[in-house]
Amino acid sequence: MSLDIALATLADHDDAYPVYRAAMAEDNPRGPVFSRLSFDCFVTDPFPGQISERYLARLDGTAVGLARIEAPVLENTDVANIDVIVTPEFRRRGFGRELFAYAVERASRLGRTKLHCATMYDVEGCPPAPAAPAAFARSLGFEPALPEIARQLEIAEVDEAVLDRMLAEAWTRAEGYDVVQWLGVPPDDLIDDVAYLDGRLFSDAPTGDLDIEPEKVTPDRVREREESLIVRGRKTVHTGVVHSASGKLVCWTTICLDPELNNGQALQFITLVDPDHRGHRLGTIAKIENLRRARREDPAIARITTWNAAANGYMIAINEAMGFRPAWGGMEWQRAL
Ligand SMILES: CC(C)(COP(=O)(O)OP(=O)(O)OC[C@H]1O[C@@H](n2cnc3c(N)ncnc32)[C@H](O)[C@@H]1OP(=O)(O)O)[C@@H](O)C(=O)NCCC(=O)NCCS
Repeated sequence: MSLDIALATLADHDDAYPVYRAAMAEDNPRGPVFSRLSFDCFVTDPFPGQISERYLARLDGTAVGLARIEAPVLENTDVANIDVIVTPEFRRRGFGRELFAYAVERASRLGRTKLHCATMYDVEGCPPAPAAPAAFARSLGFEPALPEIARQLEIAEVDEAVLDRMLAEAWTRAEGYDVVQWLGVPPDDLIDDVAYLDGRLFSDAPTGDLDIEPEKVTPDRVREREESLIVRGRKTVHTGVVHSASGKLVCWTTICLDPELNNGQALQFITLVDPDHRGHRLGTIAKIENLRRARREDPAIARITTWNAAANGYMIAINEAMGFRPAWGGMEWQRAL
């Protein structure tokens, strides 16, 4: 029996969203999920800077799987990110492979020559990952390129006395710096510096063997990205550190809340310190102050998830000291189309 695969419209989402949630519940029940609003926005308000398509597979009218393609249009225009999901009870019947082949055909028509995908993966220090995703990626000819570890902080287990001590110790190294906070789109006097720091992420954070071109981040792109999160009902909480003498923002971190989900989930996004200002514990200060601000913004936060390249020692050390613990391994894979 073969699948009926078609571009998912908003009207299909009543069938497509349960496929996504069933797969997440099976594979990574503690992992963060997209709200229905965020899921719908892939059709109604796609993220800027990429072609974003989602295909729904039906078997005799029943939705059994999804394939998502993201094709960046400003940089990495040779790359397509492909993600395939099959409803747990319909797995191991070749549907994943069929959806993938469909997505590859589409990526090829978009002129892409490189494919990337991301899966859970066994990484030392984390509970074992489900076997299927990595086996699936390998069977399709992908090579592992960048191992990452997701860590989670259980808010109920946060030790405020430890954070107080970390902050006090950090400030002894951070004379001449001030903390600044904002929600959503950065204020006009900071947005250029935010764009600069954001643009450094690719060159500063380890990218392993992943063949990827850094984003040219502009203030307009920062604004657009924040606006597209607002449309999704998300709320971003930002803490920066300003170098008093120059007035420059030299450190920045973000936590993203999703009140639409109402499940206490929060995501740690970027944390970056300008290389000229490293060694002053600014990352520690920003992360702790941002955690506290995020909890004031949403007292119902229960768990924060963060991702780091397995090789990113400094960031991991700060996270571990704050109480983040390894939750699952992830792998970024790549292959030629
Ligand atoms: C990975 C996933 C999409 C596979 O879907 P599926 O329909 O079961 O895959 P297929 O039946 O087409 O399997 C294709 C090949 O993948 C490999 N594979 C899939 N599941 C496997 C498992 N549990 N153990 C070992 N190998 C497995 C096999 O090589 C298989 O070929 P074979 O059956 O001829 O041996 C599905 O498990 C899933 O939705 N997982 C969660 C989402 C995810 O991680 N997606 C991967 C990101 S692209």
